[in-house]
Amino acid sequence: MVSLQPSSLYSSLTPSNLHNKQLSSKKYAIKSLLQYNRKPQLAGETPRVVVITSGKGGVGKTTTTANIGLSLARFGFKVVAIDADVGLRNLDLLLGLENRVNYTVIEVLNGECRLDQALVRDKRWSNFELLCISKPRSKLPLGFGGKALVWLVDALKDRQDGGCPDFILIDCPAGIDAGFITAITPANEAVLVTTPDITSLRDADRVTGLLECDGIRDIKMIVNRVRTDMIKGEDMMSVLDVQEMLGLPLLGVIPDDSEVIRSTNRGFPLVLNKPPTLAGLAFEQAAWRLVEQDTMQAVLLHEQPKKRGFFSFFGG
Ligand SMILES: Nc1ncnc2c1ncn2[C@@H]1O[C@H](COP(=O)(O)OP(=O)(O)OP(=O)(O)O)[C@@H](O)[C@H]1O
Ligand SMILES: [Mg+2]
Repeated sequence: MVSLQPSSLYSSLTPSNLHNKQLSSKKYAIKSLLQYNRKPQLAGETPRVVVITSGKGGVGKTTTTANIGLSLARFGFKVVAIDADVGLRNLDLLLGLENRVNYTVIEVLNGECRLDQALVRDKRWSNFELLCISKPRSKLPLGFGGKALVWLVDALKDRQDGGCPDFILIDCPAGIDAGFITAITPANEAVLVTTPDITSLRDADRVTGLLECDGIRDIKMIVNRVRTDMIKGEDMMSVLDVQEMLGLPLLGVIPDDSEVIRSTNRGFPLVLNKPPTLAGLAFEQAAWRLVEQDTMQAVLLHEQPKKRGFFSFFGG
């Protein structure tokens, strides 16, 4: 049992893959990973059905879905992002696609439209599509549950028009009630988003148990809204503490960055920003690891050599 008291606050991160090392050697210049002109190697069977979940609300699930989804599309993969946050959907807003959602899954299930009519293709990256379960503020219809979502995922796999997606990302609602159970049912892997605070961690721990009970063994975590200044001042738990508490492999660490809020309000995901921002790069790195089923490590900050610049935040 690991105490909730931060024991090793001075943490930073080291990567376990080559492209991160290349990145850190780039003399602190912020450049997109896409500059390496290589596509990450897709591991595992496709389509990879990944649920993005957290337990606690407002920790960054939808932000993660939007940014990882568009990163995957930029890497060249075919992606469908399903907003399973029924009634409180906002993935369409973050993607700037809110005016283009004419039909939802509910209309598909009612026979009022075809599945391809409910899929909203992103104009920037045509290999990225958004699918909303229902209209904003509507209630989860009776009878809509895990089985309906499994049917939907199967229909996406069997699509004749656009081909089977490489990734189906499911943006999960907060909490652990019916909406959560529905969202995790078709998934075979999960990205658990948490912030480094005890309430988020407790919920994340509970959700990890529920995911495992549901047979989802591949669970990786993203630690979001990390502030190195607060970690150094011992006012925030380190990523290492978070990892020790949850015992999950680390997919990515995202700094707390006002650019995230700006991009949310503009409906323009951060990973598309030019020049790239720190948080945008961190999301892109996490997406790269997701593709290759890779992870990263958190280590103590004082183990790192000095003069590393801000890329030491991501490791190197
Ligand atoms: N790394 C970050 N830095 C700064 N702000 C962030 C960061 N990540 C997320 N946010 C902000 O936090 C808020 C909540 O994010 P988001 O909607 O993605 O969370 P959520 O987990 O999907 O919430 P909900 O549980 O309500 O669905 C947004 O305003 C977003 O801009
Ligand atoms: Mg959300």
